Amino acid sequence: MPTVVIDNLQSKSIHCEDKRESLLDILLSGTDWMHACGGKGRCTTCKAKILKGREHLSPLTRPEEQYVKLNKLREDERLTCQTFISGDVTVEVPKETQLPHLNYSK
Ligand code: FES
Repeated sequence: MPTVVIDNLQSKSIHCEDKRESLLDILLSGTDWMHACGGKGRCTTCKAKILKGREHLSPLTRPEEQYVKLNKLREDERLTCQTFISGDVTVEVPKETQLPHLNYSK
């Protein structure tokens, strides 16, 4: 099963137990991760910067395409609640969605 590494959170590795899980669900199984709208694609607080493994991500969803057009989601970012993975991925938590009780390296 694929592994997700969070580069700026002590390179924490989280193993995907079920390919039907969203990237957000995988992340939440191993750490806290902001997700203000509850995974409905209506905010951008769950976004991750994708450092490696873009080829293992599902295509952009309609909400993500809208946020890209509005410049609220950059080319190298994905909404984790909208994304499914098929292989190993390395992500980074963007500065604006970092949680105050976790210790990020950048
Ligand atoms: S949790 Fe709001 S868009 Fe993903």
